[in-house]
Amino acid sequence: MDYEIAGLVMALLLWAAAWALLAQRTRRLQEELGRLPPGPRPWPVVGNIFQLLGAAFAPHQSFAKLAKKHGPVMTLHLGSMTTVVISSSEAARVMFKNHDVVLAGRKIYESMKSEIGNEGSLITAQYGPRWRMLRRLCTTEFFAAAPLDAMRGVRAKCVHQMVQYIRDAAANGLGIDVGRFFFLMAFNLIGNLIFSKDLLDPESETGAKFFYHAGKAMEFAGKPNVADFLPMLKRVDPQGIRRRTQFHVKRGFDIAGEFLKERMEKGSSVEKKRRDYLDVLLEYGGDGEEEHVGFAPTTINIIVFEMFSAGTDTTTSTLEWAMAELLHNPQTLHKVQAELRTAIPPGKKLQEEDLEHLPYLRAVIKETLRLHPPLPFLVPHMAMDSCNMLGFHVPKETQILVNVWAIGRDPKTWKDPLEFRPERFLDPDMAADYKGRHFEFIPFGSGRRICPALPLASRLMPLTLGSVLHAFDWVLADGLKPAEMDMRERMGITLRKAVPVKAIPVPYVCL
Ligand code: HEM
Repeated sequence: MDYEIAGLVMALLLWAAAWALLAQRTRRLQEELGRLPPGPRPWPVVGNIFQLLGAAFAPHQSFAKLAKKHGPVMTLHLGSMTTVVISSSEAARVMFKNHDVVLAGRKIYESMKSEIGNEGSLITAQYGPRWRMLRRLCTTEFFAAAPLDAMRGVRAKCVHQMVQYIRDAAANGLGIDVGRFFFLMAFNLIGNLIFSKDLLDPESETGAKFFYHAGKAMEFAGKPNVADFLPMLKRVDPQGIRRRTQFHVKRGFDIAGEFLKERMEKGSSVEKKRRDYLDVLLEYGGDGEEEHVGFAPTTINIIVFEMFSAGTDTTTSTLEWAMAELLHNPQTLHKVQAELRTAIPPGKKLQEEDLEHLPYLRAVIKETLRLHPPLPFLVPHMAMDSCNMLGFHVPKETQILVNVWAIGRDPKTWKDPLEFRPERFLDPDMAADYKGRHFEFIPFGSGRRICPALPLASRLMPLTLGSVLHAFDWVLADGLKPAEMDMRERMGITLRKAVPVKAIPVPYVCL
């Protein structure tokens, strides 16, 4: 009996101790949650996932609405993924000025996870020595002024080739899907920069296959995936997004691997005169910071594939939106064409050297990026450690989304923010550039993770847009009036126009 009482007392004591421990942990968790930035109340298990996966899947818009209620630093629980959303230029300034390093990690989505791992990828590398080495390679060997100057002719070739394709298509007088031509140009340019190959040459079957698989991989990677938010579904991959993305990535790698093999067998400069990115990757000996013994073929494949995925859709989205806004605002279209046609005589091709004399054209690109940043949340960051931001606790591994779409439309910063008015960027008081120093306008990001290809993109986009505006007059297809254009957005890997721009190019003839 005594034993029974002693046993009962022991059990009660154990239960009380366990209860106290649990209560303490719950209290600590609640305290921590209490110090998290404010946000909408989460549902059990799914959290605020319905705010993300709304009927129209426009999370940048839903989050901007929520931020009006909960503030510019807001917490959302996307299933099990704690997310902090930054929605004002002031909060972005604090993030990039005071917490850049600790928030420079990357949240890796399921579609990006492959059997071969993410070693070698710059976009998905966590902040650290390997990322620094890859980043330095990119900024010094690919996108620094000297290599960019050396590649000027390649950009001119690809852009003028696109103008010729449009001229051919214009012959039948029908409307064309403008975005498709921009995509082909961007893809062909990156192919030329890396492999010195015209991947879209009708003779190149492998080029066409690579184009197909790269496009499909981007399409699947851009789909919302519930497995990202509910860990118990990760293994199941219920929508098949990881499986399908990785299938196309693998096929793309196989083709890139063939190009690599061909180069290694033939050696450099057999069919070309200049050093391309593949030569750089094959010759790279590291930056002295980390022991480096050359890249494995898989790493090269990853870097190559990454350049295509990072460079094509972003460029296409921006250029398509620029055309959409210009066709929607005919006065602005006439103004930019007048600037171009005054500066460059008819029959002469627009060259990169001309861009410095075309301030309105450059302002059109900026205004497009303000209203339609192709990556409305940048590329998701992750807190590598917990930190205190603006008095709030941000736990380790929190996903950080910077809503640059909302920041670009903030009425506190921008007068008539929803109007497409490039003139605002000609005002000396609003001389914001997109180099990450003006936090009200950061379509390329800011701080350590800022887009390394900014110097390339800022040359390529005005050159391409200027060339199609100089060479053609544009009329909306199917008799559509500018005011009737559907300007809705569609979220994929980038923020694209939901209804592609269809317009008729009319070759410009000076009378
Ligand atoms: C309109 C054109 C472009 C825009 C608006 C853009 C924007 C961005 C943004 C917002 C980021 C993420 C910044 C962050 O994480 O905070 C990024 C990263 C990156 N971009 Fe771009 N990008 C463009 C074109 C390109 C092109 C043409 C390439 C390559 C050919 C490229 C390569 C990359 C790479 C490799 C990263 C990852 C950098 C890192 O994680 O350290 N981008 N870009």
